[in-house]
Amino acid sequence: MKLTIFERPADAAAAAATLVAVQLRDQPASVLGLPTGRTSLGIYDELVRLHEAGAADFSRAHTLNLDEFVGLPSTDRRSYCAFMQTHLFRRVNIPPAHVHFLDGRAADVEAECLRYERLIDQLGGIDLQLLGVGANGHIGFNEPARTLHARTHRARLTVRTRRANAPLFRGRLREVPREALSMGMATILHARRIVLMATGASKAAAVARMVQGPVTPRVPASFLQLHRHAEVWLDRAAAGRLKDG
Ligand code: GLP
Repeated sequence: MKLTIFERPADAAAAAATLVAVQLRDQPASVLGLPTGRTSLGIYDELVRLHEAGAADFSRAHTLNLDEFVGLPSTDRRSYCAFMQTHLFRRVNIPPAHVHFLDGRAADVEAECLRYERLIDQLGGIDLQLLGVGANGHIGFNEPARTLHARTHRARLTVRTRRANAPLFRGRLREVPREALSMGMATILHARRIVLMATGASKAAAVARMVQGPVTPRVPASFLQLHRHAEVWLDRAAAGRLKDG
């Protein structure tokens, strides 16, 4: 796992946005795997800026988001779909038909998860997967557990993760869904290239376990150690608990 430490969160976000822009320049029909969350906001703002400057063309790209809450329609402003529309998709030139999400309201969850896996295959796989990490070491909504799911599945959220998502629900933990649909570990690990970005001291413990701890389902992000082209981009605060050497 290649580690890069940036001075400030904004520097990491700018580098991630530039990485996407270069990916789109070199391979305009790229398939991008995208996260939501506070960490991704800086990346998306910078990508919009690059797009407006003519340096990021999404016209042939496809995107696949990592996860979505169960029970929320895509039109619900608290859904991850709405988050992405607001912060990225409405602000760049991606054709709406190229934007792909898990449907948190699907009646047949198994069929929906299978549809997503097949879609990823039909698109030729994910070229570049951007990731955030939960303070408990989750990626997507693959929560720490005794066993992990390889493929796209329905996930039960921990209280800690629901709390972290509460700001989307006016701070009301009760309103945060208890379940989500998420790409699985193998789905994520099959991406050709992965860049995980983490900023802030609240992520420092998870980062240390992800990078320097054993590969374990108790820290789902630690599985990135097995990927050939996985990188971790941090600011100084998130790197604060890494041991030297
Ligand atoms: C959320 C999402 C993850 C995201 C993570 C970090 O629960 N499901 O995909 O990467 O938590 O979010 P943040 O960047 O807001 O800390």
